[in-house]
Amino acid sequence: MTSSARPRVPDFLYGTAWKEDRTQGLTERALEAGFRGIDTANQRRHYFEAGVGQALSAAYGSGLVTRADLFLQTKFTYQAGQDHRLPYDPSADLPTQVAQSMRSSLEHLGTHYVDSYVLHGPASAYAWTDDDSVVWEVMMRERDAGRARLLGVSNVSLSQLEQMVMTGAEPPTFVQNRCFARFGWDRGVRQFCADRGIVYQGFSLLTANRDVLRDPFVAGLADRDRVTPAQVIFRFALTIGMLPLTGTSDPEHMTQDLASRDLVLSPDEIQTIESIAG
Ligand SMILES: NC(=O)c1ccc[n+]([C@@H]2O[C@H](COP(=O)([O-])OP(=O)(O)OC[C@H]3O[C@@H](n4cnc5c(N)ncnc54)[C@H](OP(=O)(O)O)[C@@H]3O)[C@@H](O)[C@H]2O)c1
Repeated sequence: MTSSARPRVPDFLYGTAWKEDRTQGLTERALEAGFRGIDTANQRRHYFEAGVGQALSAAYGSGLVTRADLFLQTKFTYQAGQDHRLPYDPSADLPTQVAQSMRSSLEHLGTHYVDSYVLHGPASAYAWTDDDSVVWEVMMRERDAGRARLLGVSNVSLSQLEQMVMTGAEPPTFVQNRCFARFGWDRGVRQFCADRGIVYQGFSLLTANRDVLRDPFVAGLADRDRVTPAQVIFRFALTIGMLPLTGTSDPEHMTQDLASRDLVLSPDEIQTIESIAG
């Protein structure tokens, strides 16, 4: 597969945030469990991207996977979201920062392209700014140069997405957001994505929705199918068209999360969970 081919997008992503020196080992476990999509970021504050690269190198070396089997996603993070361990020169302009961050990601991951390159979050919480437009343009140039196949935006509101498309910008292939059940599981953004063929990636599906995991309806479905409430939530997410992320550190949970694909929930059950909290 050449770097210009459109990648096959997996139905689950393994997230590598907050694992520090366990990043390599846990990413290897995730690949062994069957994950083929890996999410990381060139943001040393929350991710150890080089540790992901070490896991990939070990997995290639053992013959577990090849680069072509994998969907690798990383992110460009503005300086405001970083600590002192920056992957670019902070005095450089934004186009240079994006290019430097991308070069460093490719080095960390031991690859000449990523399958998805994501803007970690807009520069402001309230609007799609001129800085975001500049960064998005450069991300498109990185894509066109073959260093990324697809592009995404994370931590983005419906109004920011609307502003983004109103500027005439090319829409993202992915939106990656924290998904709160109390906001209808990010209903407005999901609808925006569904209308435009954008794949919605949901994170914090468990940690942002602890009440839902304890809800008697969800617990009852889990009991009926002899699975965990977490698996019910992941099956729900898959059924409504979401690409879920899990960052579990527990090998048994890794297996359970992937096994949630085999659960069957009826349309009525999906609808009940969809409106369970908002
Ligand atoms: N774009 C962004 O700004 C952003 C922000 C946050 C996260 N992310 C991405 O999303 C990934 C996932 O993060 P997250 O916020 O969703 O949290 P997470 O790291 O997936 O944490 C899930 C929590 O739920 C627990 N858990 C219990 N049962 C589980 C089960 N069956 N499966 C999975 N977890 C189970 C886990 O504990 P155990 O470890 O014991 O299983 C863990 O404490 C991150 O690694 C990162 O890649 C992106």
